[in-house]
Amino acid sequence: MNYPVWFLPSIGGGTLIAFIAIVHVFVSHFAVGGGAYLIALEKKAYNEESNELLEITKRFAKFFILLTMVFGSITGVGIWFITALVNPGGISLLIHNFVFGWAAEWVFFVLEIIAAFVYYYTFGKMDRKTHLKIGWIYFISAWMSLFLITGIIDFMLTPGTWLKTHNFWNGFFNPSFIPSVGFRTFMSFLMAGVFGLFVLSFYKNNEAKEKFVKYSALWVTISIILMIPFALWYVSVLPSEAKALVLGKSPEIVRTTKVIITSGIIGFVLGLIVFFKPSFNKAYIAFIIFLTGFFVIGSFEWTREAARRPYVINKVMYSNMILESQLETLKKDGFLKHAKWVSAREITNENKRQVGKELFIHQCYACHTIGGFNNDIKEKAASMSYTALTKYIEKIHKVRYFMPPFAGNEEEAKALAAFIAGDLLGKEVKEPVKKALDGKTIFEDNCSSCHEPSDFEDLIAGWDKAKIRKALDMLDKLNEEMPPFEGTPQEKDTLTEYLFKIAGGEK
Ligand code: HEC
Ligand code: HEC
Repeated sequence: MNYPVWFLPSIGGGTLIAFIAIVHVFVSHFAVGGGAYLIALEKKAYNEESNELLEITKRFAKFFILLTMVFGSITGVGIWFITALVNPGGISLLIHNFVFGWAAEWVFFVLEIIAAFVYYYTFGKMDRKTHLKIGWIYFISAWMSLFLITGIIDFMLTPGTWLKTHNFWNGFFNPSFIPSVGFRTFMSFLMAGVFGLFVLSFYKNNEAKEKFVKYSALWVTISIILMIPFALWYVSVLPSEAKALVLGKSPEIVRTTKVIITSGIIGFVLGLIVFFKPSFNKAYIAFIIFLTGFFVIGSFEWTREAARRPYVINKVMYSNMILESQLETLKKDGFLKHAKWVSAREITNENKRQVGKELFIHQCYACHTIGGFNNDIKEKAASMSYTALTKYIEKIHKVRYFMPPFAGNEEEAKALAAFIAGDLLGKEVKEPVKKALDGKTIFEDNCSSCHEPSDFEDLIAGWDKAKIRKALDMLDKLNEEMPPFEGTPQEKDTLTEYLFKIAGGEK
């Protein structure tokens, strides 16, 4: 609310970031792991006195420099550029706390670039020992970049004691720092391995190639194994809410963790086969292994981002840039009164929809597109009426922990509901008249956000009316995802009749 929002309704800022992030994350991890991989290959070539191996290493080094230097730096700058555009509030908070972390990262990045160039241009022209040392300088400075950025990125997920002390070191060495550095280090070795296999699959067959293939397959399989303990450690230090999301409360995250596990297993098995039978490393097999690596890394980063929901910085700032500390004020005074980038301060009949749209942009667009493929609000809210949406918005965070609480007053909630239900879904926007409601309406207003009427044929099969009526008093006890039903006793009776009927009635 302190910054304007760059509004691309059907694309969404998240998709934009993801697009660059996925390439950057791959290349930047590859830059670290690839450094270690090159040194190891070079050493192996010297030990075996093999010119062929040395030649392959040199060719790798060339490609490597092109890829990491050019692509790595462009996407690296690109990602901060985009995140700063999409979430200026979050980036500003990070810069104000970690500016020296970032500065140190740039120093290592410069060192990394210089070392990479020296390494490549002196290949075969320098004595072996010194050349390997240059390789080490490269690898260590690349790894230091990983180390430093991990501190900042994981601070966003687990700020730990920083929340109380606001101390740089508490934030940097946060609870998920070490598991994350470990996980990323082996992930970077995995990237080097899958990449090696892929490039090698195009080389002509000879003994040197076979050795390299076997060697790269080891990097793949061993890295996957070593990533597991760090992954478990990582999950174990997550705050309880984030852990609950990862372990099942968020259907989206659960789907993605399945992708990580399945890809890891496929990559491991194929890597193992290639190790025992290097001729199996055909281009298409190598490509599949490469893809599994890509899926592991992409899904991991996505999960880390999603597990932070509803925050961009856990317990401090919500994904929509609203500070947790501002929430009470905004609920009391209304969002419009304090926000900087809105067109009106008061809601009138004329501007209601426009205000609703602006509220959507400032509070929901961080995660929802309008008509886009990613978390489309039109699809997600399709079953809800205006009244249902109003009620839903007011308790949105209680119903779904991964969404931030609505930061505004009742009038604003209605304006937002009017925009979604009226403008986006083309439904009628009408204040409910205070009369006895029929069961269907009560259902639509209170239950339809999570249940279809037809669900109840199974959900309450065989229940009698007394049991249904009792359940309505304790919905939150029946399933922890369900909010309690706050209707009057009379409404509960009416809803009981309705549920009993849709579940099949008297048999
Ligand atoms: C931090 C991200 C985030 C923000 C901000 C957010 N949502 Fe959501 N919302 C989600 C996710 C994730 C889902 C569920 C996706 C899935 O699993 O199907 C969802 C689902 C929904 C649904 C479908 C019903 C349900 O309970 O699953 C509605 C309606 C909805 N959001 C409305 C809103 C409104 C209105 C706002 C703004 C006040 C908002 N959301 C802000 C992430 C967010
Ligand atoms: C925020 C989502 C949400 C809302 C709103 C919601 N429910 Fe549920 N409900 C669930 C979930 C999740 C379950 C578990 C079963 C499932 O996945 O369908 C459930 C299960 C149930 C069950 C079966 C409980 C059991 O012990 O087997 C009943 C009955 C039920 N809901 C009734 C209702 C009624 C009536 C309303 C409206 C007043 C309602 N629910 C609103 C999420 C919700």
